[in-house]
Amino acid sequence: MSDPVMSDSPPSSVPQILKSVRIAGTGSYLPERILTNHDLERMVETSDEWIASRTGIRERRVAADGELTSHMAAKAAEKALEQAGLAAEDVDLIIVATITPDTITPATACYVQQHIGATRSVAFDVSAACSGFLYALEIARHSIGAGAFRNALIIGAEKLSAFVNWTDRNTCVLFGDGAGAAVLLPSENGHGKVLSSHLGTDGAQAELLNIPGGGAACPITSENVDQKLATLAMQGREVFKHAVNAMRRAAETSIEKAGLTIADIDLVIPHQANLRIIDAISDRLGVTKEQVFVNLEKYGNTSAAAVAIALDEANRTGAVKAGDRILLVAFGAGLTWASAVIEW
Ligand code: ACO
Repeated sequence: MSDPVMSDSPPSSVPQILKSVRIAGTGSYLPERILTNHDLERMVETSDEWIASRTGIRERRVAADGELTSHMAAKAAEKALEQAGLAAEDVDLIIVATITPDTITPATACYVQQHIGATRSVAFDVSAACSGFLYALEIARHSIGAGAFRNALIIGAEKLSAFVNWTDRNTCVLFGDGAGAAVLLPSENGHGKVLSSHLGTDGAQAELLNIPGGGAACPITSENVDQKLATLAMQGREVFKHAVNAMRRAAETSIEKAGLTIADIDLVIPHQANLRIIDAISDRLGVTKEQVFVNLEKYGNTSAAAVAIALDEANRTGAVKAGDRILLVAFGAGLTWASAVIEW
C-alpha cells in the first residue's frame, strides 16, 4: 500500500517561538479496576493468547461507573502540578485532549478546572484521538512561547470503556481508561525542554477509525444505540499500515527539526496501541527494544492518555534521566499523527 497523503504542519513560514518551553512536571492516574484478557475470554469469543500475540496487551484498566474522564484528568493533573511546584490557582491554560469527553459541551477541561480549583485558567479540549496529547503540547508551547500564557497544564484523558462495543471482539480487547498530564513553563534552562514538535492530519482517512454515532451526523436514537453506532469502529489492518508509515515519518521530522539524528535519541515513547506497531516502527527507525518505552501490556490503548501516562511512568521510574533526549510519537483517528523531541 502507498504511503498516506501527508498534510503535515507547515514548516518555515510559521513564526519562530519566542521563548523556550519545558515540561516541569508530569502525573498520571489509572483507575483501580483491572480487566484481564482472561476476563475478556468470558465476555467475547477470544483468548489471552490471541490478544497477547496480536497486540502485546495483557490487561487494561476500567473506570468505575461514576468515574468520568474529567475525574481521572484532575487526578493526573494534581500530581503534575505538585511535581512542577505550581499551585492550581496559578494555572493560566488547561488543554484536555480526549475523544471521550464527559459531555459534548461544555469541554471536559472546564470540569477539570472546577475539580482542581484552577479558577484563573482558560480551559478547552482538543480532539485528535491518540495524537491529542501531542497536539495539546504543540498548542500550549506555542502559546507560552508567544507570551499569551505564562504556563499550561496539558492532559490526555480517556474513558474509552464508555465508548467500546463490549460485544465486538475486534475492538473491545484493545482499549483502556486512564489519564496523564504535564505542566509546561517557559524556560531557557532546566530539564524537560521541548526541542521540536510536529503534527499531521489526513482527513481523507477519517472513515478508518471513528465513533459514527452521537454527533450531528448520526444523532442518538434508540435505534442507533441498539446498532451500537455510538461505539468505536475500526478497520484494524488499514489503520495498522497507516500507523507505521505516519509514525515513522513524524518521528524523523521532529528529530530533523531538532537538528539531531536518531543516534542522538536515548528513549522513544511511542503511542501504546499495539506492540507489533511499536516493533515495526522501532525497526524502521533503527532503535533497539531497550530504547523504547512500553507499558501497553498493563493498560491497553488509552488513546490520548497513552503517551502522557508513559511519559509520567518513564519520568517517575527513572527510565528517563536528566540530559536524555526523548522522542514522543503518536498516531490516531483522523487520521492524525504527532511527534516531539524533548531534552530531559
Ligand atoms: N480474538 C480472537 N480473534 C479475533 C479477535 C479477538 N479479539 N479480533 C479479531 N479476531 C479475528 C478476526 O475476526 C479475524 O478472523 P478471520 O480471519 O476468521 O476473519 C482474525 O482474527 C484476524 O483479524 P485481523 O483484523 O486481520 O487481525 P490483525 O492481525 O490485523 O490484528 C488488530 C487486529 C490488533 C486490531 C490490528 O490490526 C491493529 O492493532 N490495528 C491497529 C489499531 C491501532 O493502532 N489503533 C490506533 C489508533 S486507536 C485511536 O485512535 C482511538
